[in-house]
Amino acid sequence: MPAPTYLSPPSLPLHHTAIATATATASASLLSGGRSRRSCRRHMSGLVLLKAKVGDGDGHVDGGDELLLASRRHAVLGVARVLFAAANERCLRGMDRAALGRGSFFAGAMANSWRVLMQGLASLMFLCARADEYVRQPPSPLVLTAHDKPAAHPQQVHISTVGRDKMRISWVTDDRSTPSVVEYGESRGNYTASATGDHVTYKYFFYESGAIHHVTIGPLAPSTTYHYRCGKAGDELTLRTPPASLPLELVVIGDLGQTRWTASTLAHIGGADYDMLLLPGDLSYADTQQPLWDSFGRLVQPLASARPWMVTEGNHEAEALPVVGFAPFVAYNARWRMPHEESGSASNLYYSFDVAGGAAHVVMLGSYAEFEEGSEQRAWLERDLAGVDRRRTPWLLVLLHAPWYNTNQAHQGEGEAMRAAMEALLYEARVDVVFSGHVHAYERFTRIYDNEADGRGPMYITIGDGGNREGLALKFLEDHKSAHLSVFQEASFGHGRLRIVDETSAVWTWHRNDDEYATVRDEVWLESLASPKLSMAATSRHDEEL
Ligand SMILES: [Fe+2]
Repeated sequence: MPAPTYLSPPSLPLHHTAIATATATASASLLSGGRSRRSCRRHMSGLVLLKAKVGDGDGHVDGGDELLLASRRHAVLGVARVLFAAANERCLRGMDRAALGRGSFFAGAMANSWRVLMQGLASLMFLCARADEYVRQPPSPLVLTAHDKPAAHPQQVHISTVGRDKMRISWVTDDRSTPSVVEYGESRGNYTASATGDHVTYKYFFYESGAIHHVTIGPLAPSTTYHYRCGKAGDELTLRTPPASLPLELVVIGDLGQTRWTASTLAHIGGADYDMLLLPGDLSYADTQQPLWDSFGRLVQPLASARPWMVTEGNHEAEALPVVGFAPFVAYNARWRMPHEESGSASNLYYSFDVAGGAAHVVMLGSYAEFEEGSEQRAWLERDLAGVDRRRTPWLLVLLHAPWYNTNQAHQGEGEAMRAAMEALLYEARVDVVFSGHVHAYERFTRIYDNEADGRGPMYITIGDGGNREGLALKFLEDHKSAHLSVFQEASFGHGRLRIVDETSAVWTWHRNDDEYATVRDEVWLESLASPKLSMAATSRHDEEL
């Protein structure tokens, strides 16, 4: 099926009266949701035709008119941006308060209505002013997932790989007296084994968490579906263990949040099979509102209970309030326990693991743990990389939150200190790819070392476009010092997949999720840096080639 193409009509003189009908129709499509993007494209195509008909006949416009139009466009865009900001800050705050029981339902509904109205007006003004440019969807409201079952019923189930052949099952019960037990087996309803773990709780102001259970099951066979039940009371769930060898399919997504865009991303991820999900930080966007951690856990459970979700922390996980004594990452560490002890790390904020029988080694770094010379994290990273035998492990991947290379206007320079402290270690270890998040857009660089293209350095990919409520980082800097190293940039929501085919070849694809189809927007084949050839990525395709 051919991929939809971006609308990029030629610049023609505007006629505001003539375009009004088509613009209003396109705006209505934007507000209607669902098939809005494609509908909008169709109406925008109609808009282009109208523009062509009302032009001055020779397709030209004089300089005075151009200046006038540019000035009007600028003014309209300025007002639209103000409306946009007002809708997304104040109304979201009101909706959150209502959803968390700190405001009235009526106030929440009013906030939602105002937000839709303001965004509709903003979209209309954007369309009027920038009819010849692609119009992106605004940030989306939260999707809050309720728990309507008894307090002892397990919820927020997610799994993570532990060691060579074990899996940690994590879940929450509002009832703190329920057992931390997982029963499991290879056939439905026939549990041939069980394991017992523990649970933790935490407090944050007036919020008291439920019991957060962690149970490690195994040994498990590779590439095998297991049926399991948590706490002797939950629904039966299924998981599939990763393969013991290549090929291996990894999903990578950052800055996920819990909006309609998140739901769209999750639907696209779930639409095609994979072995494991890697998340380089910024999960729930709870931002101190602890019930949002619970809502996020319920939102991702259908996927996170079926395949291992391996995560590292972002800035939105910190939630530190030093004045009142709240240490950073309390909720994150309690809820998303990762296999740091098994990889010799003293902190849940950085760790590593093998997958596919050791064919790939994944290092999860902590952008918000100390990383300088002499720090625990740096010493651990040196030890961890020294233990990787590239003859046995042809693929070496690193994930972290704040990108080291970034030409987007957002978060400029925030990863620079960590890059300066650790880049040489990754380069000497011949890391194949470094994934990061934080910037809400997609960007792929060539192989780099120390700000120069280098075929023996990692490929850098920013994939912070999961769909959170802060919206997209729209502006890429064409005159940035790293611009010549940046191969592909786009500010759209989506997710990525790394399919490691064999010991030497892998293919990375980026899937933009605001199309009706699971469209591959960017694709690149890469060769393992453990390969004797040590060559740069072979071929890449993107844009309308795909
Ligand atoms: Fe972030």
